[in-house]
Amino acid sequence: MHGIAVLDAGGQYCHLLARRVREAGIQSHVLPIDTSSDALSGISGIIISGGPRSVTEAGSPRIHPSILSMGVPILGICYGHQLLAATMPGGVVQPSYSSEYGLAKFRLATGLKPRATGDTPRVTDEAGLFDEVPESSRVWVSHGDSVETLPDGFVGIGSTDDCAVAAMMHAGKKIYGVQFHPEVTHTEIGQQVLRNFIRNVCRCESVWKPSSAETIEAIKTDVRAAVGPTKNVLFFVSGGVDSTVAYKLCADALGQDRVHGVYVDTGFMRKNESADVMGAYEKAGFRNVRLRDASVEFLAAVGSETNPETKRKQIGAAFLSVENDVLADLPRGDWLLGQGTIYPDTIESGGTRESALIKTHHNRVPELLLRIAAGEIVEPLVQFYKDEVREIGRALGLPPRLIEKQPFPGPGLAVRFLCTDAPAAWSENATLSQVASAFNLTARVLPIRGVGVQGDERTYAHTALLTGDYDEARVAELSPAITNALRDVNRVVFWAGSKGSIDEFRVEPTTTSREGLDVLREADARVRDILAEYDTRQRIWQCPVVMLPLKRQGESTIAIRPVESNDGMTAQYSKLPWPVIERIRTAVLAVPGVGALLYDVTNKPPATIEWE
Ligand code: XMP
Repeated sequence: MHGIAVLDAGGQYCHLLARRVREAGIQSHVLPIDTSSDALSGISGIIISGGPRSVTEAGSPRIHPSILSMGVPILGICYGHQLLAATMPGGVVQPSYSSEYGLAKFRLATGLKPRATGDTPRVTDEAGLFDEVPESSRVWVSHGDSVETLPDGFVGIGSTDDCAVAAMMHAGKKIYGVQFHPEVTHTEIGQQVLRNFIRNVCRCESVWKPSSAETIEAIKTDVRAAVGPTKNVLFFVSGGVDSTVAYKLCADALGQDRVHGVYVDTGFMRKNESADVMGAYEKAGFRNVRLRDASVEFLAAVGSETNPETKRKQIGAAFLSVENDVLADLPRGDWLLGQGTIYPDTIESGGTRESALIKTHHNRVPELLLRIAAGEIVEPLVQFYKDEVREIGRALGLPPRLIEKQPFPGPGLAVRFLCTDAPAAWSENATLSQVASAFNLTARVLPIRGVGVQGDERTYAHTALLTGDYDEARVAELSPAITNALRDVNRVVFWAGSKGSIDEFRVEPTTTSREGLDVLREADARVRDILAEYDTRQRIWQCPVVMLPLKRQGESTIAIRPVESNDGMTAQYSKLPWPVIERIRTAVLAVPGVGALLYDVTNKPPATIEWE
């Protein structure tokens, strides 16, 4: 095996690490955390990922001690950093005084000089992990434990305000640990540190690219091997980037006659989506794709369910039942199921051995996992991230109409239609009011829960609602201050306007309905049109439009969640100019059935992109 091994401690960001390594032009392999040195022979370096557990807990993931004496450079990240400290003699890890989530200021240890400056260093980073890294920079952190005592032979080489050992090294052994996450884009020095580890410390030099002819040929070879010489593949295509590229790869690998597609209209699609998608497929020359209207079945499957995880599972089951129906209609012969699953779908569904469940993606429900285990499913893109999939799609010659689309979740508008069983009253929270008043804004707790991800764990918590005069800089600072201060709040929204006074709005019992979906569809279409005009440089990665059961005179509240991201794993909310919000407000409040507009001002983490 060549390149870099990424040992998976279950972090959300494990495959992101593998991908960053690939972006630096080196092949990477994700392997179980306890892989032994025998299985790693030929590797040039090892990265140990972050993870949701605590190294102080019994039964938490451990490395195989044999890797420490291989003489291969090692970089531990977050949990991996702590695991190195806890495993090597003399090291101590303990719960921190204050947990750190989000951005922190990282400072190189005094005397750890970037090698160019010429003064005499107290500690020399000979191998060059921090070459060209400034003395101080912003890094992204998410941890509750810290390294309290360095293991024997290690020195501290960087710190943050809340973490004395934010980076450590054993120069002779070329073993490093960093508490921050270099793989997420919000860490300014992240790619530089990874590149330094790969090039300077591990001395790797090869070049690898997801969309190179060689990689694409390797994917097609894998598809042929998985499907065999006689079987055919049936794809349920959604019009989204992933299923479209996966379909095209299979059709190119096996020939169009052996690959069929069914586009299922779940009734949870956006306005005019089905007609647009079928038209685009025809133009792209997909010969064997047909449409099946299953809107009645899907609406019935969701029924009056209000819990997001249960809704997702019921939608997953509805997909399976429609799929089984379609498969039963096929001419006799052997058919495998093709899926456009990409890596984040599996990791957020708790799909790798150590990861925690954030939300079950529709293509990772238990029945499908059984089929995967039985070898009945082909997933050509399962090791890739969204932007890599787009790159592959472009290399395959698919049109921008299909490739540049914003991601849209399989369960569609169903997970953007928030439901609730019981009425709920507004509540005040003294800490919340105090934090907000320091920013000249008022805040209350919106008694509606949404999904979030904090410290690698799923949360299902309340939303804080801000009112007052909108000020971009103040709101951007206040939002993380609130989610850091209040355990039961994972999302912050700004009240952008309504038909009546805010006090007339109440949370009312609501279940998914066709009429409600039509209101949401219309609001979504209007938001999409305005943002398409505003966002000509396509900085917005995705903008879920969400309907909340917060009502006045039967009219619901709409929330917009524009985010900027590279891969959906982490995201920053898009800072829209207030006049754009005002345009959206006017357009959305003109839709009968909509009473108010909210602007979601939360990053991921702490809130996921979708509310459910
Ligand atoms: P979250 O909400 O987890 O979303 O931050 C990350 C990205 O994944 C999309 N998403 C899904 N995609 N099936 C999908 O195909 C799903 O069940 C699903 N849930 C979320 C989401 O739209 C975002 O792009």
